[in-house]
Amino acid sequence: MTDVGRHPKIKLLTMSEVMGVKGSVGNFKVNVLKKARYVEENECTACGKCAEVCPAVRPDEFNLGLSSRKAIYISFPQAVPSSYVINVNECLGHNPIVCGKCIEACDKECINFHMSDEEIEEKVGSIIVATGLEPYDPTAMDEYGYTRFENVLTSLEFERIINAGGPTQGNLIRPTDRERPRSVGFSQCVGSRTLRKGSSYCSNICCMNTIKSTLLIKEHYPDIDIKVFYIDIRSSGKGFEDLYRRSRKEGVQYIRGLPGNIEETGEKGLMAAVENIVTGKLEIHDLDMLVLSQGIQPAPSTQRLQESLGLQLTSDGFYLEAHPKLLPVDAATRGIFFAGCAEGPKDIKESVTQGSAAAARAIRLMHKGSITTEPIISQVDPELCKFCGKCAEVCPYNAISIDTKKRIPAEVNTASCAGCGTCAAECVFDAISMNHFTDRQILGQVDAMLEEKTDEKILVFACNWCSYAGADNAGVSRFQYPPNIRLIRTMCSGRVDEKFIWEGFERGAPIILVSGCHIGDCHYIDANQWTVKRIQKIHKKMARMDIRPDRLRLEWVSAAEGVRFAEIMRDLERLRKEVTSEEIGETVRILKERKNNSK
Ligand code: FES
Repeated sequence: MTDVGRHPKIKLLTMSEVMGVKGSVGNFKVNVLKKARYVEENECTACGKCAEVCPAVRPDEFNLGLSSRKAIYISFPQAVPSSYVINVNECLGHNPIVCGKCIEACDKECINFHMSDEEIEEKVGSIIVATGLEPYDPTAMDEYGYTRFENVLTSLEFERIINAGGPTQGNLIRPTDRERPRSVGFSQCVGSRTLRKGSSYCSNICCMNTIKSTLLIKEHYPDIDIKVFYIDIRSSGKGFEDLYRRSRKEGVQYIRGLPGNIEETGEKGLMAAVENIVTGKLEIHDLDMLVLSQGIQPAPSTQRLQESLGLQLTSDGFYLEAHPKLLPVDAATRGIFFAGCAEGPKDIKESVTQGSAAAARAIRLMHKGSITTEPIISQVDPELCKFCGKCAEVCPYNAISIDTKKRIPAEVNTASCAGCGTCAAECVFDAISMNHFTDRQILGQVDAMLEEKTDEKILVFACNWCSYAGADNAGVSRFQYPPNIRLIRTMCSGRVDEKFIWEGFERGAPIILVSGCHIGDCHYIDANQWTVKRIQKIHKKMARMDIRPDRLRLEWVSAAEGVRFAEIMRDLERLRKEVTSEEIGETVRILKERKNNSK
């Protein structure tokens, strides 16, 4: 942190909040709200005389309320810049100045109550999102009695107590009587791996954090009894299993089962009722202190930033990387990278690794000085644009700007467009066309493939990245599937325009399949969600027109699912045999009539 603060090429904006981000890779404009510190940070020497005289006492957030601070304070001892800050909401009054004792005490005259919040615009080429995490708040889990019993602590509170720089200078005492506890319990997975309260995922760090704490206690106080209540211990990582074994060897008891209920006994002791899964018996454990191993949740700012940066979230609420194996630190939006728990729960080592990787990726991009845009991007014909804004709504990359009120036609930012084609498929006015994979090319393929023996053909639209590769996999693996499949490749299933489907049926196709990456795996963030909506809409229209909706199928096939691709094809072939030539003829008649009526 100190190195960052001193680095001539790093501008550190503390007490600042990102309010909005505009632009694209190489040209991001970031609006930042820099909050007033009310202390000149370059002048302050952190002598602390101001805090000594400040009469306003408040709980210290850094020590989780286990100690106090003044209204003028330094956030934590290693804070950068090493400068005090005034919380004006806690100050006895700065306008007009009511107390002013800090002003009198400061020899350097650093206190400045005339400061105000500033709005800053920064221009940057790439962005690394490192929003961190939020520890799970166990107040909702009433069975642990966190809000009722003082000797039930969270793992973070415990960490501050045993920290040499913490409120007790590292002396392990229990909050009620400030005496050393004779027994300490740790309850694992609080807010993690649960479908009831908290999150369903594993928070990754809690097992090792508990093991570290047990070793620390045993090192300083070998006579304290330690019990760890757990579901299973996840100690995967270099040297972690050794630490776990050492903890057991030191006499720490690992009990398989989580406390179902905690009650207070005399002298503020605790009683934990635990069902031991190994013995199948209900056990009662007496403890002097219980530590709740709280899980990790996404930082509160995650959602807000996601909207301004146009990022994707996983179902857990963390940021979604562009590809879990090949681009693990990249966002799907070019020029944006992730570091640390923004992308998922991680320990320090993993966070440092990811931070270094993100920095290297950003440097690589910036070093080039220029970027090459995708050749397959969309284009707007402003003459045809009717300002409906649908294209901007469906674009997963926020690459399209349009002013529907001022009736300014849509415009595509070519640096941001990734070429999924969803906008072109959704534009009912045909105002958007693609470079490559044009409507003409795709409709031409439909016509060519259904030129002869039409009623024997199965028309398949397959996305480039998953389904087409899945078909390839089936082919090279020699999985048998019917030879009457005709495949049309599109970059994404989101590109499959409604008119391609109608053209296929009008040309006499018995069955049409639209196929793409599984939901959550689309290579264009969430473009395939629009495929789902579009196909549902077409199914409804088919039903209204008396065309069997099951003749249009939507299936997700990944690149590795050659077997699945072949199975789907065999299933479709069975379905195709059920479609009679009379039914096909009737469909063609209905669609032709519909076309003539709309002219
Ligand atoms: Fe496969 Fe979007 S890339 S569905």
